[in-house]
Amino acid sequence: MEVLHTIADFRRARAAFGELGFVPTMGYLHQGHLALVERARAECPAVAVSIFVNPTQFGPHEDFARYPRDTERDLALLAAAGVDLVFVPPVEEMYPPGFGTYVIQPAADEVLEGAARPGHFRGVATVVCKLFNIVQPTKSYFGQKDAQQTVVIRQMVRDLNIPVEIVVAPTVREPDGLALSSRNVYLTPAQRAAAPVLYRALRAAAERYAAGERSGEALRALMREVLAAEPLAKPEYVSVAHPLTLRELDQIGLEGALLSMAVRFDGVRLIDNWVLEGM
Ligand code: PAJ
Repeated sequence: MEVLHTIADFRRARAAFGELGFVPTMGYLHQGHLALVERARAECPAVAVSIFVNPTQFGPHEDFARYPRDTERDLALLAAAGVDLVFVPPVEEMYPPGFGTYVIQPAADEVLEGAARPGHFRGVATVVCKLFNIVQPTKSYFGQKDAQQTVVIRQMVRDLNIPVEIVVAPTVREPDGLALSSRNVYLTPAQRAAAPVLYRALRAAAERYAAGERSGEALRALMREVLAAEPLAKPEYVSVAHPLTLRELDQIGLEGALLSMAVRFDGVRLIDNWVLEGM
């Protein structure tokens, strides 16, 4: 496994490979990331991973400075997973003085995570576009955990004609349903015990949908009710949205819906989602 820190070194190393699967990450790897790596390993002759905590996708009051980092451990996990190339650039390599071009999707900023985190998807789309240009992958792998991110990346690839196939893999969960996240380490034991309430709320709504409920508001109310039973959980938003436009739905139609939520446990913000399949 080769570990490269500059764009020039990465490009030189990449030239030795043909088709390449790519998993972009911010490190502090867990089984959710490793499932993407395994999928890439199974589908591609060679695999590249990036580890870069991207400052432009964090808001001024978010956790960029304290985002968990452990590059040595990450590299050991990636070597064991059979990764060929790892790109670990310093911030100045990706954003040198004078940097001034961004990828923006105004519609994404109006809903869900985009509305809750101004500028977040500008940072995500910009860094992923840069990484695609540097890595030149054939396929790139993303987790359903960040549902809106997958919609934003697919739209960017379509709109800007980026020659990469986007693959989305299912959310990996703890046995009690909590979606794996690098941010779960911020939770106190009491908050950790309360955190599966997100999954319970999603499951309750999914079961109600399976039983025939099609009212978006009824499902939002049900999820809010499940969350309200957990005093440590403070919901930021609860959504039943169209799976592609991510606009809130009054009535769920043939295309199904995306259930999603952001919930605060004091300073820790967790997100989760569930896809209601259409007909
Ligand atoms: P990060 O949060 O490190 O996640 C890297 C990839 O792992 C993303 O595609 C994310 O959706 C996926 N992932 C995280 N938790 C998961 C889980 N429990 N199950 C399945 N997949 C999971 O997402 C980012 O980094 C950044 O925004 C990035 C795309 C790297 C751009 O900076």
